[in-house]
Parts: sequence; structure tokens; C-alpha cells
Amino acid sequence: MKFTVAIDGPAAAGKGTLSKRVAEEFGFAHLDTGLLYRATGARVLAGADSVEAATSLEPEDMERDDLRTTAVAQAASKVAAIPEVRAALVQFQRDFARREGGAVLDGRDIGTVICPDADVKLFVTASDAVRAERRYLELSANGHEVTREGVLRDLTERDARDRDRETAPMAAAEDAVVIDTSDMFIHDAVAAATRVVRARLKAV
Ligand code: DC
Repeated sequence: MKFTVAIDGPAAAGKGTLSKRVAEEFGFAHLDTGLLYRATGARVLAGADSVEAATSLEPEDMERDDLRTTAVAQAASKVAAIPEVRAALVQFQRDFARREGGAVLDGRDIGTVICPDADVKLFVTASDAVRAERRYLELSANGHEVTREGVLRDLTERDARDRDRETAPMAAAEDAVVIDTSDMFIHDAVAAATRVVRARLKAV
């Protein structure tokens, strides 16, 4: 069975947790596509050429310890605006989406560019303040030295770059179901997403 769930949205809206839980619930594979851009960004920070870095990504590049830092997040957002970098990563994502057994992909352009025919499209969002607070708590819990103001600045800067770029900008697909998690507990957001997927699974 092939079944693709596309989950897009701005940074720290809850896409990651939501995608993992939906994948677990239905036994689908999960790809955090942000990791592809983060791994590319990390290689560029280490001196590589951006297109070359994206073209020659290896699985171990996705396991580096520093991928969650704000420096790498910013570098990821910058390389993500380069059309040749995005082009280098398209086929891998499409192959993943069409694998047997179902797949959940989360990112910025999954429902619009990577998988315009996805069976389910969700756009997960939350207010800037809520997203910044969540990311601040997550980063501090993991031992990163960050401030609330710094995290908010990082998120809003990245969102603006990701939304305003010419190639595959972050956007909700016309047929995406929007889930605003500002006033939701993760449990409720997962329940909402699961309902949408279950309804669609019944229909195919
Ligand atoms: O989801 P994330 O925060 O890990 O993503 C890091 C950056 O990568 C994000 O700021 C923009 C870019 N990105 C993208 O352009 N397209 C995707 N499908 C996923 C991430």
C-alpha cells in the first residue's frame, strides 16, 4: 500500500512530534525533511560548497550532533533558498513518499512541491509567541544556551526567509487541512491529525 501524508508549517509549530506520532499510529515511515537541509547547512558551515554538499549527502550527515543548533538552522534556511540545493534533494524525498507501507514527510513544501498528490496534507501552525516558547524550552532542556529573545528572533527570521523565497516557499497547499496548535496540547493535535488521516484511509 502506498499512502503519503504531507505535513508542512513554520519552525517549532509541532510538526516534528505530530509527524512522529502519526507515523507510529499508522505504522508509516517518517522523514523529517528539515534534516536534509540542516545536514547540508552544517556541511556548508564546515566549508563545503552548498550544491556539492546537498548532492553528496550521506546518511551519517543526518546523524551529526550539532544539527539542532540555531546556527545550523539558520544555515539550513539559507541553503534551502538555493534552487539547485532543493533540486538535488527532490528525488530522495519523492522516493521516500512512494515507498510501500505508507510515509509521513514533514517540511515546508511537501504538500505544494514534493508531493502535490499526497493523500493527506496538513499545515501545522501556531502563534510566534507559542512557537518561540516551545522551542526555547526544548533547546534549554537539551543543554543549549539560548535566550527567549534569541529563539524568537531566529524563528521569525527563518520563517520570513522560508516564506518569501522564490523557489518552493513555505505555504499551505490549497487542499491542506490547517491545524493551529497555539491553544492545543500535543495530544489534541495528534488526535486531530489522526482523524484526518483515518478518514482518508477509509476512502482510498
Ligand atoms: O524543519 P526545520 O526547522 O528542521 O528546517 C530547517 C530549515 O530547512 C528551515 O528553516 C527551512 C528548510 N526546509 C525547507 O526549506 N524545506 C523543507 N521541506 C524542510 C526544511
